[in-house]
Amino acid sequence: MRKMTEKSLSEAFAGESMAHMKYLIFSEVAESEGFPNVARLFKAIAYAEFVHAKNHARNLDYIKKTPENLQAGIEGENFEVTEMYPAYNAIAELQEEKGAKVSIHYALEAERIHEQLYGIAKESVLSGKDLEITDIYICPVCGYTYSGKTPPEKCPVCNVSKDRFVKF
Ligand code: FE2
Ligand code: FE2
Ligand code: FE2
Repeated sequence: MRKMTEKSLSEAFAGESMAHMKYLIFSEVAESEGFPNVARLFKAIAYAEFVHAKNHARNLDYIKKTPENLQAGIEGENFEVTEMYPAYNAIAELQEEKGAKVSIHYALEAERIHEQLYGIAKESVLSGKDLEITDIYICPVCGYTYSGKTPPEKCPVCNVSKDRFVKF
C-alpha cells in the first residue's frame, strides 16, 4: 500500500476504534439513565464502527493467524507495561494529576496479567491445542483480570467485591 493511503487508513482505524469504545461507554450511561433504546442505538452503531475498524485493519494487514495475533497482543501489552504507562505515570506525577494516576495504575496492573495470559495462550496454540482455561473474571472498576476457578474475595487492585466481577 502506498504511504499516504496507509497513513490515512491507519488514522481511520484509530478513529473508528475510538468511536467504538466511546459508543459502548455512552451506551452504558444511557442504560443507567433509563434510556434503553438510546443504549441499544449506541451499542448497534458501536458494532458498525467495529466493522469499519476491522475492514481498515484487514487492508492494513493487521490481521494474522492466532499465534501471530497472540504475539502482537504480548508485544502490545509488554510495551504498555514497560514503557508507555510508566512514562505516562511520570507525566501525571509531574503534573499532579490524581485521576490520571489512578486510571494509569489500574491499567498497568491489568496489562501485566494480560501479557502473561497471552503468553500461556500462545504456547498452547503453538502446541496445537486450545487454551485450557476455566473462567475469566474482569473487575468492572479497574479491569483486573483473573483466570481460574476461585477469584479473590476482593479485587487486589481496587478492592471491589468479587460479586461485581464480570465473568467470561
Ligand atoms: Fe464508522
Ligand atoms: Fe491489556
Ligand atoms: Fe478492581
